[in-house]
Amino acid sequence: MESLSTWVGVGLSLSSLLLLLLIERIRQWQSERKAGVPPGRRGFPVVGETLRLISAYKTENPEPFVDERVARHGRVFTTHVFGERTVFSADPEANKYVLQNEGRLFESSYPTSISNLLGSHSLLLMKGPLHKHFHSLTVSFVSPSVIRDSLLPDIDRLVRHNLDSWAGRTVLLLSETKKITFELTVKQLMSVDPGEWTEKLRKEYLLLIEGFFSLPLPFFFTTYGRALRARTKVVEILKTMVKERKERRSKKRSTSTSWEEVEEEEEEKRDMLGALLEAEEGLTEEEGVDFMVALLVAGYETTSTIMTLAVKFLSDSPRALALLKEEHERIRAKKKEGEALEWSDYKSMPFTQCVINETLRVANIISGVFRRAVADVRLKGYTIPKGWKVFASFRAVHLDSDHYKDARTFNPWRWQVHIFLMLIMGSGTFMPFGGGPRLCPGYELARVEISVFLHYLVTCFSWTAPEDDRVVFFPTTRTLKQYPIDVRRRK
Ligand code: HEM
Repeated sequence: MESLSTWVGVGLSLSSLLLLLLIERIRQWQSERKAGVPPGRRGFPVVGETLRLISAYKTENPEPFVDERVARHGRVFTTHVFGERTVFSADPEANKYVLQNEGRLFESSYPTSISNLLGSHSLLLMKGPLHKHFHSLTVSFVSPSVIRDSLLPDIDRLVRHNLDSWAGRTVLLLSETKKITFELTVKQLMSVDPGEWTEKLRKEYLLLIEGFFSLPLPFFFTTYGRALRARTKVVEILKTMVKERKERRSKKRSTSTSWEEVEEEEEEKRDMLGALLEAEEGLTEEEGVDFMVALLVAGYETTSTIMTLAVKFLSDSPRALALLKEEHERIRAKKKEGEALEWSDYKSMPFTQCVINETLRVANIISGVFRRAVADVRLKGYTIPKGWKVFASFRAVHLDSDHYKDARTFNPWRWQVHIFLMLIMGSGTFMPFGGGPRLCPGYELARVEISVFLHYLVTCFSWTAPEDDRVVFFPTTRTLKQYPIDVRRRK
């Protein structure tokens, strides 16, 4: 009898709790409706729709998660992911508006677990005038003229050097292209060629990168804990470099220098760290290190994944691959054996640019960006309350058949129609590099690196693609088995 009454008591308490939760839900729903926030679901208490989103991204076709909500609520809807109410935008105009109003109505927003890995002086975390200043400085380090005059020769040399060791081997394409983008960035940042020092840095850097895609549990034995320790080592290594450079600069000002030293100084002046120290007299070692970590992180995984997926999409589309080869063989035919690519060669690769655009559009390696509203914002007839998060989804727009015919098919030819390009540029329907004040400073550099890579791959080698590898989307977009290809040198 006593146990029956205990069970009745537990049952009643649970029902009252559920009733209270339900009342609270209805109250919130009514107040959100009154405030005019975009329609949408809240999902389960606490986790919201996070688990649904993750399980969608673990499948081969994550699109239904967004498609269903767009069909029910429209292209701007509300959800609850990663612990917060979030407005999800699959609308190109809304995305453009959000990105262009960075610093006024919205700010970029990263969880503390990510900022701890990036470092507090990272460009990705800076805000306001400081961000504006360092963003333009970064843009000036990778402008087309800098790429043409200083960076392209090294890109050509390092890509060729890496590819030379591929002949007759099975190559894990994703890990090899990551090695290439890492070596390129280190060279561009601080004029260091691949060797013992870069390998030591790379070893720690790989552990640091893993932290970005892990659960943020800062214990000794977790991936995130290892990443934090690796960051300390990366900082130590880079700090020594910044310190030495600063000391050399001040010494050079006070003493006369030999020819070798002058040459070394000239090379250092041309690299990004040199340019940074030149532009920012009072820069501390910590600021210098965080600046370098941001650039190492931003261009590494992105560019290498696009290189790999371009090869995958081309392997699946022999007609596109044949056309690409023709384009590059025409360029090679005009050059002497072993002659490096020049800016004019890069500018005569129209079909390559179509392939890169289409790979960026279909792959969506950065599927969108988070922003936080810093005031109540009106967007597409709705209100986004101050403090709410917005996710501007590039992926949802890039794969929307209202903007691209057969949107989910790889079709580089669509970019050949000049008018199509003119129409979509600036309309918010093609934003793989983001937009507004945080537009990726490395967008041209990434294109050049991918173009040079494709040039040497298709003119010097042929390959057999794996039959059993596929693209996965969680925690990042990549191929499951790193895309192992059997590489042969062409006669
Ligand atoms: C295919 C390759 C790449 C893609 C798809 C890509 C994409 C993006 C996107 C979407 C953003 C905007 C993030 C936001 O709005 O919050 C961004 C920012 C950034 N990217 Fe890239 N990126 C690529 C390569 C590179 C390279 C090679 C560099 C090296 C210079 C680079 C440096 C940066 C930096 C420093 C930022 C931060 C800008 C800021 O917050 O002001 N990216 N990138």
